[in-house]
Amino acid sequence: MNPLLSHLQPYPFERLRQLFAGITPNPALKPISLGIGEPRHATPALIKEAMVNAIMATPSGLAAYPATAGDPALRESITRWLKKRYALDLNPATQVLPVIGSREALFALTQTVVNPSITTPADDGSPLPPVVVCPNPFYQIYEGAALLAGAQPYFVNSDPARNFAPDWDSVPAAIWARTQLLIVCSPGNPTGAVMPLSEWAKLFDLSDRYGFVIASDECYSEIYFRDEPPLGGLEASAKLGRPGFKNLMAFTSLSKRSNVPGMRSGFVAGDAALIKPFLLYRTYHGSAMSPVVQTASIAAWNDEQHVIDNRAQYRAKFAQVTPLLAEVLDVALPDAGFYLWAKVKGDDAAFARDLFTLYNVTVLPGSYLARDAQGGNPGAGRIRMALVAETAECVEAAQRIVQFVTSRP
Ligand SMILES: Cc1ncc(COP(=O)(O)O)c(C=O)c1O
Repeated sequence: MNPLLSHLQPYPFERLRQLFAGITPNPALKPISLGIGEPRHATPALIKEAMVNAIMATPSGLAAYPATAGDPALRESITRWLKKRYALDLNPATQVLPVIGSREALFALTQTVVNPSITTPADDGSPLPPVVVCPNPFYQIYEGAALLAGAQPYFVNSDPARNFAPDWDSVPAAIWARTQLLIVCSPGNPTGAVMPLSEWAKLFDLSDRYGFVIASDECYSEIYFRDEPPLGGLEASAKLGRPGFKNLMAFTSLSKRSNVPGMRSGFVAGDAALIKPFLLYRTYHGSAMSPVVQTASIAAWNDEQHVIDNRAQYRAKFAQVTPLLAEVLDVALPDAGFYLWAKVKGDDAAFARDLFTLYNVTVLPGSYLARDAQGGNPGAGRIRMALVAETAECVEAAQRIVQFVTSRP
């Protein structure tokens, strides 16, 4: 067996199952889950129809192997979308690749980039592995990808006083010197924070100084609450005079934008010098997208109206739910994403357990989404609520949470 597998941590939902084991939640109330961050708005008909038509109408249907690089028509629909969304001109042949969702792509890029044979001698002469720097709290795939690549994850705590920006200045130079990959998440899961241009400038400077790659996870980019859409990593790069996106790869997904988490479709875009070895890795890994999914993806990238409608649904829902919860919890409308990241009194796991027991509402303890690092767990004393269900259900959950908090000692 690969010994690195034993370093993987249990997934947050596994820990939640253990927390709730043996509990019978209040049977008088129907269960409401704000736990899993899985979109539940309806998949647009135009995407489903494109998929069905692709199976039934195209000559090859499912009877041919797809190319790992994807059909040129898909890559062109992606570059057209990047032009509309960010006013960027990318070369569809060299600067974009379709991926089977951003999760596998984040994992695979880490395996492509990390060179575990480059070690640094510790004071006692023993070899220190390369480092992958991640925000804390974070999406757990970053950590698993780093560990399985033979790297050591280094967690940078988010600072609630600065809209949950990770405290990059706290990272010692000795860590940056060992860093081969930095993963950022903007809009962030679970904080919803969008990285401003100044933060990007800082990270590009560090990348130039220490030579590491930046992977920018942007899968929540189309669900936002401010007037202006979130700044993308590639957009920031171009604005800061880096039109070739040196050492930068951005990850975008249809899962949340178009409510198709089951379709498994997204893309990476950025530095052509990274896309080329990434395509080679993917060819051997066998990560080609089904032609049927490619056709449905083209339909999704070509249409913006369903994205506008989807965003409007989230905006209406957050406008109702956030003020209710803000009466009893320290919580505010995020920049973007579909989570509320609230501060609670006392232990976050005890809060989640008691809320489930008494009110049959599931939320995720914040400490399960973060690690103890640099003197604390930045998720401790917080909960994540995914507002993915219909508005009425989310409002009911919020009302129950208000009752729970006000009746708690
Ligand atoms: C921060 C973040 N990145 C990536 C993903 C993966 O999304 P997908 O693989 O569906 O594109 C998720 C899914 O929940 C996520 O929260």
